[in-house]
Amino acid sequence: MSSGGLELAGVSAGYGETLVLEAIGLALPTGGSLAVLGRNGVGKTTLLATIMGHTRLHAGSIRFAGREIADLPPFRRARLGIGFVPQEREIFPSLSVAENLAVAARPGRQWSLDRVYDFFPSLAERRHHRGNQLSGGEQQMLAIGRALMGNPTLLLMDEPLEGLAPVIVDALLAGLERLKREADLALMLIEQHARLALELAQQAIVLDRGMIVFAGPSRDLLVAPDRLAALISVSGRGGGS
Ligand SMILES: Nc1ncnc2c1ncn2[C@@H]1O[C@H](COP(=O)(O)OP(=O)(O)OP(=O)(O)O)[C@@H](O)[C@H]1O
Ligand SMILES: [Mg+2]
Repeated sequence: MSSGGLELAGVSAGYGETLVLEAIGLALPTGGSLAVLGRNGVGKTTLLATIMGHTRLHAGSIRFAGREIADLPPFRRARLGIGFVPQEREIFPSLSVAENLAVAARPGRQWSLDRVYDFFPSLAERRHHRGNQLSGGEQQMLAIGRALMGNPTLLLMDEPLEGLAPVIVDALLAGLERLKREADLALMLIEQHARLALELAQQAIVLDRGMIVFAGPSRDLLVAPDRLAALISVSGRGGGS
């Protein structure tokens, strides 16, 4: 059942000699969902980048789909089934929605243009529009759709709700909720909207200065708003805002 699962143990990683993450351990089974919370600059993006292979790993093990992937380059990790939606929503502005999706397709059983359109109906309506003619929310749906066309078994998303109008946030959350229920996929998402992320994901971790300061069921934080607030507003390194 956890053949598509992700497991990190003792992961320390960063950029060059600089360590950003220290001794990170986590497990995310297939079908599971994990919210990654924490203040600005604590290492959330670095954690996803490390799973994708974009940082320098100083120590630890990253297992995915039953094998060690820590030594693999990013494109091989993607081929094994890790989809990544970066914060910058990488889409092709001059290609249509349909073309953006088609060029991202990789052989696999689960995903097709029609299935992506079914999950995100506003993309179907805009299938002939170019990437640069879409609203922020539609661009985000397209970025997620592109990742899904790669038939991932693990989908990593960096702040998918950022900068979106509330009505769009609801539409996107509905799509993600369905993904969680119906797709054979593990979801891991970074989110500043802590409550929304906790309502979506079954499990959560909170990072502070590169270390995990909470790991457990999302419910434990949802029922304890004071604890949540304390965890994500721990005093900074100083000098920041
Ligand atoms: N490419 C990079 N090279 C060097 N240092 C980096 C790089 N990217 C991030 N950092 C540093 O790593 C630390 C963690 O940054 P990261 O972007 O992972 O935090 P974050 O939790 O995603 O923050 P935010 O909420 O602002 O997105 C910060 O001190 C940041 O300055
Ligand atoms: Mg970030």
